[in-house]
Amino acid sequence: MPLTGLTVGLIGAGAMGGALATGLVKSGCIAPGAVLISDVDTSRLERLETSLGIRTFGHNTQLVSEADVVVLAVKPDMVAPVLAEVGPFFHAGKTLISIAAGMPLRVLEERIGVSVPVVRVMPNTPCLVGAGASVYSLGTHAGPRDAARTQAVFSSVGLVLEAGESLLDAVTGLSGSGPAYVYMVIEALADGGVRMGLPRETAVTLAAQTVLGGAKMVLESGEHPATLRDRVTTPGGTTAAGLFTLEDRGLRAALCEAVKAAAVRARELSSRCEA
Ligand SMILES: NC(=O)c1ccc[n+]([C@@H]2O[C@H](COP(=O)([O-])OP(=O)(O)OC[C@H]3O[C@@H](n4cnc5c(N)ncnc54)[C@H](OP(=O)(O)O)[C@@H]3O)[C@@H](O)[C@H]2O)c1
Repeated sequence: MPLTGLTVGLIGAGAMGGALATGLVKSGCIAPGAVLISDVDTSRLERLETSLGIRTFGHNTQLVSEADVVVLAVKPDMVAPVLAEVGPFFHAGKTLISIAAGMPLRVLEERIGVSVPVVRVMPNTPCLVGAGASVYSLGTHAGPRDAARTQAVFSSVGLVLEAGESLLDAVTGLSGSGPAYVYMVIEALADGGVRMGLPRETAVTLAAQTVLGGAKMVLESGEHPATLRDRVTTPGGTTAAGLFTLEDRGLRAALCEAVKAAAVRARELSSRCEA
């Protein structure tokens, strides 16, 4: 167990910090007392302390002194000031994990000012319900120990994969922005159901469960999506008629282009951080 005997500190008790705290405790991969969290907002800390039994800190430096693994979960514009504040409290035995969108490893390593293992993670919002997709890249001083720690922390809120940093913009375009595409797909499917006479609530529930079911089939069977699609497409049947319409109206090209547009925008935004 990569987190056995370690403490995990979360800086920022917002949406992602709160989700990680909840995931770590609920998954049982670490004792609640070994999860530390700091924030400028004490009411958020009090709520998490009461609901999860984790330890809270009003000062980031105190948290970093006590934590072996530190997850930086503040908004990107707060990364520089927080790293300047906590940098002197880091050493090579600790792992710094940043989830700040678009903040490159090189910038994080420069800002922290000391040679410590840094990992950059791109998570997504379904981490809030334990169904996230997170991809991490290792910094210059990070190795297998830091990879194992990152896997352990983020697998408590969903699936985790490793990739080179050059692929993180593509990851942002796919899984980072992807939940929003899926919401639009669910909305559109539900609109179709309503158009054909279903009550709105029934249509939204059926659409969401259908997307969830399709995704589980892909992940759990390990089969190519096209194989699964062919298996449910009877020649001359209803699904074939629906699929033809989707191809004809350009669904495939639209989604491919959406991923590309978001990845290109992610690249633009992250080059601003490097400037
Ligand atoms: N949400 C996502 O799905 C998602 C996906 C990928 C990456 N990310 C990244 O995750 C990071 C956190 O996002 P989020 O949505 O969780 O943001 P959030 O809800 O705004 O949480 C950030 C928390 O950090 C607190 N904070 C601000 N300054 C601080 C300081 N100096 N020390 C300690 N805590 C401080 C904020 O308090 P105040 O509100 O009082 O300022 C807030 O409670 C961002 O960098 C974002 O790019 C998020």
